[in-house]
Amino acid sequence: MINLSKIVVVGSYVVDLTARTPHMPKPGETVLGGPFKMGPGGKGGNQAVAAARLGAQVTMVTKVGKDLFGDDAIRNFKNEGIDSRFINQVEDESTGAALIAVDDSGENMIVVSLGACGTITEEEVLRAKAAFQEGDIILVQLETSMVAISTTINLANKLSKPVILNPAPFQKISDELLAKVNYITPNETEAGLLTGVKVTDSESARKAAEILLTKGIDTVIITLGKQGCYLIQKGESTGKVIPGYQVQAVDTTGAGDAFNGGFAHFLAEGKSVEAACQRANAVAALSVTKSGTSPAMPYGEEVEKLVGESRGQGH
Ligand code: RIB
Repeated sequence: MINLSKIVVVGSYVVDLTARTPHMPKPGETVLGGPFKMGPGGKGGNQAVAAARLGAQVTMVTKVGKDLFGDDAIRNFKNEGIDSRFINQVEDESTGAALIAVDDSGENMIVVSLGACGTITEEEVLRAKAAFQEGDIILVQLETSMVAISTTINLANKLSKPVILNPAPFQKISDELLAKVNYITPNETEAGLLTGVKVTDSESARKAAEILLTKGIDTVIITLGKQGCYLIQKGESTGKVIPGYQVQAVDTTGAGDAFNGGFAHFLAEGKSVEAACQRANAVAALSVTKSGTSPAMPYGEEVEKLVGESRGQGH
């Protein structure tokens, strides 16, 4: 049976300032770039939009400044049908911004300046307790203050709500907190930083995932770019690679966010972990076929179409 999925996202909103470039600049180099675009971003915001476009009822918990970017953020979340009651707009901080360069192969480099969303307090998370109580899944990243992250994980545990931690971008997190997480979704780089294992293929992903399981996490999913993801769950002797979908990449920025928003939605809707991973791979693949982050997130029909068309071709 398909349920209406209810997801609470606690994390970042920043404005993305993206320049295309023929190649990434070396330190000290200035490159004559291509077109520039400004749009809504932040890993939290992107994941919220990804889930909402698939049909989830999403509540966003974040913080923005009382400035033009902050006004845009709230307007944008409302347009996406996202509950923005717990977006705190404050005078004393500016809305964050990310400086993004995307090269001709679609690869990206990002410097994110969190601004207001890096200062989310315990109290600002606890204010959303009613939304947590109604939610099926709580989704959090590492792109905000550690106090917001720990309050989110602890509140989810207290209310017996499953919590997905997308450990992006990497920052140090205690084993005590990791043990309270149900699902963790690092990419290869983050898995390496969390475990000390350099992840380059499914074998090294298995080694890293096994280390994460020993920390008390129930389900480990390591995203492997266009290869898909490696999934292993507590009690399993071995995991498996869920293959990705092959598409023409235009801009890979936000692919991880597409995966996480998609995974949260399909899991909350009642799909098995494996089926949710498979569809999340499709969400990520579709997101890289367009420029931008939040604006590139696909809708449910597009995902079902890709999944349907690819059936039997290794999926
Ligand atoms: O994951 C992509 C996101 O990371 C971008 O939207 C940018 O805002 C950075 O936070």
